[in-house]
Amino acid sequence: MRYTKIGRTDINASVVALGTWAMAGDSNWGSSDDKESIEVIHRAIDLGINLIDTAPAYGFGHSEEVLGQALAGKRDKVFVSTKCGLRWDADSGYVQMERDGVVLRRVLTPDSIRLEVERSLKNLKTDYIDIYITHWQTMSGFDPAIAVTMQTLLELKKAGKIRGIGIANVTADQIKEYAAQGQLDLVQNKYSMLDRDAQKDILQLCADKGVTFQPYSPLERGILAGKITADTQVTGRARAANKWYLPENRAKVLAMLDKMRPLCGKYQCSLSALVVAWTAAQSPNINVLCGSRHLAQIQENADGGNVPLDPADIRAMDNCLNTVLA
Ligand SMILES: NC(=O)c1ccc[n+]([C@@H]2O[C@H](COP(=O)([O-])OP(=O)(O)OC[C@H]3O[C@@H](n4cnc5c(N)ncnc54)[C@H](OP(=O)(O)O)[C@@H]3O)[C@@H](O)[C@H]2O)c1
Repeated sequence: MRYTKIGRTDINASVVALGTWAMAGDSNWGSSDDKESIEVIHRAIDLGINLIDTAPAYGFGHSEEVLGQALAGKRDKVFVSTKCGLRWDADSGYVQMERDGVVLRRVLTPDSIRLEVERSLKNLKTDYIDIYITHWQTMSGFDPAIAVTMQTLLELKKAGKIRGIGIANVTADQIKEYAAQGQLDLVQNKYSMLDRDAQKDILQLCADKGVTFQPYSPLERGILAGKITADTQVTGRARAANKWYLPENRAKVLAMLDKMRPLCGKYQCSLSALVVAWTAAQSPNINVLCGSRHLAQIQENADGGNVPLDPADIRAMDNCLNTVLA
């Protein structure tokens, strides 16, 4: 496994990180087995993965609680990122969506952040969070300004409750605004082989500012791992909302993956590891955040941190991609 520093922190993180969204067991991904989730987290640590991402919104605290249980006696082996800014118990703030009988709102006011950090520390059974991330950003017309949010995060850092600051689902302008206020360490945006063009400038901006870029959903929620066939019935909101699962797009993606598959033989790796390795190769300051909730998956995804792709093979994969994205 390769390790790189997150932003300007002293956090030396594995280039493949583990995401725990699907471990929430909510309507986004369908039910999960907590015992298996904990085994996956332990296996990830054994495989050299030392950065694990969660959020209160994943199962309304459930994902954080599962991670907290898994970390008993292992806290010093792992860097934990969790998030703030998506509340299901607030009565003001921009409405992100309604799901599972609640209204999710974007709230990044100082009081709300201070409340959320304490709840997360409790769920995770820890007294510090390694990287604290604003999950979704305040919309124009709603308080507070980014400068106020960032000042609150910097205060939490000074108090020792968080070690690094991250932001998610952001534009280039928002990155610049946060970074103008103080040390920003990580940007977590959606990025995959199939969804890369919108992030091209952001990748460069992060590199210029010394901020780690952490792509989420790099496997496009499983289709790039070879898990999905033309006949797979898609359930759960996480996939239902993804355009690559529509029959005509799915056929193109599956044809593209068939063209890439021979490289799995060359590198003796799974398709998923190949895709993770391609993603990790896109910039020196990338940290690839993959979701896994089954033991076989975490093994394959961790392998992606060990596949030394030749530049010629990266170009060959880009050529396959162009057939789908054209
Ligand atoms: N900041 C944000 O707004 C945001 C948004 C989304 C995600 N995230 C974070 O990013 C993490 C990763 O993103 P993601 O979970 O959306 O997507 P992903 O990593 O692209 O896909 C994860 C899913 O793909 C399937 N999968 C993974 N590895 C596989 C393998 N080797 N073989 C077969 N199937 C495999 C699994 O589906 P099954 O579980 O169904 O088997 C898994 O749950 C999340 O867990 C979360 O921590 C952040």
